[in-house]
Order: sequence, then structure tokens, then C-alpha cells
Amino acid sequence: MKITMIGTGYVGLVTGVCFAELGHMVTCLDINEEKIAVLKKGVSPIYEAGMDELLPKNIEVGRLSFTTSYAEAIPEADLVFICVQTPSGEYGKANLSYVYAAVRECARHLDGYTVLINKSTAPVGTVHAIKKFLKEVAPEKDCDVASNPEFLAEGVAIKDFLEPDRVIVGVESSRAETALKEAYFPLIEKGYPFLVTIPQSAELMKYASNSFLAMKLSFINEVADFCELVGADIKEVAYGMGLDKRIGTKYLQASIGFGGSCFGKDVRALIHRGEEEGYEFRMVKALIAVNNVRYLTTINKLKKHLGNLKGKTIAVLGLAYKAGTDDTRDSQSLRIIFELLDHGADVRATDPKAIDHFKTLFPRADEVNFFEKPQEAAQGADALLILTEWDEYKNLDLTALKNVMTGTVIVDGRNLYDRKNIEAAGFMYEGIGR
Ligand code: NAD
Ligand code: UGA
Repeated sequence: MKITMIGTGYVGLVTGVCFAELGHMVTCLDINEEKIAVLKKGVSPIYEAGMDELLPKNIEVGRLSFTTSYAEAIPEADLVFICVQTPSGEYGKANLSYVYAAVRECARHLDGYTVLINKSTAPVGTVHAIKKFLKEVAPEKDCDVASNPEFLAEGVAIKDFLEPDRVIVGVESSRAETALKEAYFPLIEKGYPFLVTIPQSAELMKYASNSFLAMKLSFINEVADFCELVGADIKEVAYGMGLDKRIGTKYLQASIGFGGSCFGKDVRALIHRGEEEGYEFRMVKALIAVNNVRYLTTINKLKKHLGNLKGKTIAVLGLAYKAGTDDTRDSQSLRIIFELLDHGADVRATDPKAIDHFKTLFPRADEVNFFEKPQEAAQGADALLILTEWDEYKNLDLTALKNVMTGTVIVDGRNLYDRKNIEAAGFMYEGIGR
């Protein structure tokens, strides 16, 4: 099939490359000329496992191309997927201006029957709103609109797409259903669940899934804080809870709080969409309230040992919001480093992949010193914070760190270490919930 992806960010690029890998002819379109120029050379602007292999491979065999031109990418396409950003707008409302800009431009170039599929995360009712919009701006076009929410997680995005827990399509016509089935046929054939629903259900499924996962995270973080009060160990508690198959072991790792471009904005958008209907999502509101102040846990652990942070040197290991990605959008590291700077601390930061991305997002990047390696960042530090669970940080040379640091505090925001080992190396240990 001929498929066009509008937007070549984390979702559009990964899903475009993967559709090509499944055998389709894919054109990826973006208005960002710099991004497209780099992609045309087979170079990925993002770090994602497997991308460096699949991207050049599919360009080479002629199944994947890149463009900034709607006139080039739209008329021939059987399916057009919208994968543009849907950031938080006023009061948490999902900002759909990028989606509508893409739909408007796309509509001008549609030629012959096309299925326009919204893959961007957008509130329940968006498919119907796009349909209405198309009727106004391009009534003569032969086009169906569908929803196909994307569930990939960064760092494992390619695997998530090619080995999905489920593919969801929200459709209102059998033509659209058939076209989407054909697009996903190689996965359906392998037995991955393919669920066809009405658009409203597909749209809500995405928000409900992200909010549920985020709720698990805020819940376990609350239990972790309580563990510290009563002398329990959250790793033991979470493991024991997770053995109950109804609960499951995933998304129970207590931490500095969840980050990333989506959980926060999607939770806020669900709350807002509820309010539009006069409905209050009380549990969803609570989960975001817990996460909003989560960064203070890390700051308070530092203060407990160092007192006033003014003039203290803090080594920060990890800027990405999770391991496996160079993405720092809504990373807890942003909040924590902001707070450290506000307290007058000197911050020495490192990350194996995310320093450049962090610099583009963090407004006070010029106040932070960046280093390639943990040991360089730790030089002269009063305390060391581990904020991202990179493999590189799981086996740090504690003796070498001890030799270069001034202080002896390690705050392990991802519970990567055992207290015993850290203390045996001469440090004071602060984990999360233990
Ligand atoms: P992103 O910001 O990385 O990428 C969006 C891309 O769209 C950018 O490259 C931008 O230049 C391009 N764009 C914007 N307007 C355009 C237009 N009119 N025409 C062509 N290109 C345009 O965003 P993302 O992280 O890929 O997320 C995209 C959507 O997918 C969001 O709704 C997000 O909630 C959802 N989502 C994201 C993830 C994730 O892990 N990042 C996972 C599932 C769903
Ligand atoms: C999340 C969902 O997992 C995807 O299914 C969804 O498609 C995506 O959001 C989206 O809509 O954008 P992502 O944000 O990439 O994916 O990453 P996750 O692995 O879910 O992690 C989110 C945050 O939770 C990270 O900060 C991570 O460190 C944290 N986390 C995760 C924990 O603190 N503990 C855990 O046990 C798991």
C-alpha cells in the first residue's frame, strides 16, 4: 500500500519506518526542513533502538522516502496518518492546532479515495470533528476519517510497533476498516490482536491507558514514601504485589516521578475533556497532583544530608526522562535541576544520549556544566544524583567516584543499587522507598 505519515517525530518516524519494514511504500512528510534533510541521508534525528538499522535499510530498498511537500506526498497515498504533536494548551486542553493545520493542508491535495487516520493522541470526539471540518473545507473529496492511537513507548518503540500488545482502529466505514486491516496485515497474520471499534472508544482507550499507567506510577510512588516512614522496602513490596497476576509487575518501579512528553499532557487533557462534559476525573486528578510535587522528594533527600544547598556541588547522572531515549521532554531532571539552581547549587550533569536535547529545552542550560562521563561530573561533588536508569549507571566504579567527590551522598532515584554496596564503598545512601 502507499502510506504517508504526516509528522516525522518520535511517532511518525518510528511508525513510518516500521510500515516500510512491513513492506509498504511509505512517504514521511514534515514541515521541518532540517529534519527532512537529515532523514533523506538516512540519519535519524532521534536516538531509538533499531532505528539506525531500519531507516537506511528501507530507504535503500526504495520503500521509504522523505519530503516537505504535501503536493508530493498526499495525492498518491491510500492511507495518510497524522502524527503531529498535540501539546497541552490552556487549562490542560489538548492543543489540536497542529492536527488541523495538517488536515487542512492534506485536504487540498487528496486525490481519489483516501483514509485519513489520526494517530496523534487527541481527545474523544476528534475524528468526528475532523470529519465535520473536512466537509466544510473539502466537501468534494472522497475520504474516510479514522482513529488509530499509538501505544509505543520510547526506547522500545520499534519493538512495540512490530510486536504490539494490540492494534486499535476506530472506524465508521467498512472501506476504512478494510484498508487499515491491509496496512496491518503482516502483524495480524502473526497473531497480534487487531481490535476494531467506533472512533470514540479508540480515542478514549488511548487516554484511559496512559492515565491508568500513570496512576500505577503515582500509586507506587506514594506507597514508596510510606515505606520510608515504616521501614518497609518498596522493591520487596512492589515485587510481592506484582506476583498477583491481576496487578502485574510492570509500572511498579518507584522513582523520582514519571516524565516524558505524553503522560502529563494526556492526563491533563483527559481531565479537561471530562470537564467539557461536566464530568470530574477524581482519581486522574490525584495522580497528577502526586507527580507534580514528586521532584521535591529528591530535593528533600539532598537537604536531609547537605542542609542548605546554596554553594553545594551536585552531580546529576541522567537527563533523559527514561533510559533508551535522548528525549528530555517533561523529564523530572528538568524540574530537579531547575530547583537545584534556584537553591544556588552548582550542577554538573551527564547523560549518555540526552545532553544536546536537554540543552535545547532547558532555559537555564548555560548555568549547568555538562560532562561526558559520570566520573567527570562527580568531580568535587558534595552529592551524586542518579535520575535515569541507564545501564551505564548500574555498575558505577564506586571507588573511583569516592576518590573524585568531595562529599559522600548518593541519591539513587531509580533504586539501581543496594544500600549495603553503596555504604560499603563509604557513601551514605538514599534510595526511593527503602
Ligand atoms: P514530535 O513533536 O516528536 O513530532 C511531531 C512532528 O510533527 C514534528 O517533527 C513536527 O515538525 C511535525 N509537524 C507539525 N505540524 C506539521 C504539519 N502541519 N505538517 C507536517 N508535519 C508537521 O511528536 P511525537 O512525540 O512524535 O508525538 C506525536 C503524537 O503522538 C502526539 O499526539 C503524542 O501524544 C502521540 N504519541 C507519542 C508517543 C511518544 O512516545 N512520543 C507515543 C504514542 C503517542
Ligand atoms: C508511555 C506509554 O508507556 C506508551 O504506551 C504510550 O504510547 C506513550 O507513553 C505515549 O502516549 O506517549 P513513554 O512515555 O515513552 O510511553 O515511556 P514509559 O516507559 O511509559 O515511561 C514513562 C515514565 O514513567 C518515565 O519517566 C519512566 O521512567 C517512568 N516509569 C515507568 C517509572 O517511574 N516506573 C516504572 O515502573 C515505569
